[in-house]
Amino acid sequence: MIDRIHHVAVIVHSADDALGFFRDTLGMKVTEDRVVEEQGVRGVLLACGENEIELLEPTRNDTGVARFLEQRGQTLHHICFNTDDVEAELARLKGMGVQLIDETPRDGLAGRIAFIHPKAMHGVLIELATPPAGSHVSTEKGFDHLAVSVADYEAAKESWKHIVGLEVVNEIHPEGRGMVIGQMPSGQVMVELLAATTPDSPLAQRLLDQGERASSMVAIEVADLDAEVAKYRAKGLTMADPAPGALPNSRTSTISAEQAFGLAIQLIQFDK
Ligand code: CO
Repeated sequence: MIDRIHHVAVIVHSADDALGFFRDTLGMKVTEDRVVEEQGVRGVLLACGENEIELLEPTRNDTGVARFLEQRGQTLHHICFNTDDVEAELARLKGMGVQLIDETPRDGLAGRIAFIHPKAMHGVLIELATPPAGSHVSTEKGFDHLAVSVADYEAAKESWKHIVGLEVVNEIHPEGRGMVIGQMPSGQVMVELLAATTPDSPLAQRLLDQGERASSMVAIEVADLDAEVAKYRAKGLTMADPAPGALPNSRTSTISAEQAFGLAIQLIQFDK
């Protein structure tokens, strides 16, 4: 069964340059770093609590990953879920008629892996992975939340429930933002479905411009946001002063995607 988010993957021009940020500035530990020849990528995994961040650098220019980088720039590519039996998950999905990219599992950076077609998941590319024994495991909280923008909230809720087993347990209507946030727990991470509730909201406009997709962002909970912001400013990063977030009782400040190799890092503090 699918039990948690394994990683989010971002495609980068240079894994070495990106390591200067994720490993050296953020202090994340590298758990895997190798070239996967048949996929034409150098892949690096970095631990973030129970989750990981995957950096993918194309090593050839004739692959889908290389074309994605050329067309979209450095940005989030897929979200990967951990399962103890990727074969069984694929059989279940095939039985449901879900559109897949991989009909059978293959070897990837995170173990035995397979991809579900983004058409089945409202524009989000989903990987399933069964890591080999001895892989990175942690009980620490990693990401706080990820966000996925959807045009048809009800249809998306059904897909996320039936395909990856996530269910909306809480809905938030942040004041003045014209949207609903449906929170779906996966391990210690909340996957958030964001849907517009008014046609003139910023989210409705973004959906018109960009279509349904996962935000190229991970939120990470911190105990002392002001201290974190001061620390990263001292390291040369530009960060706005902490401000109230969309989630109740939260304050946030974000390291922009431009400074973070395509994956914005939102630091979030919950006031208890
Ligand atoms: Co991956």
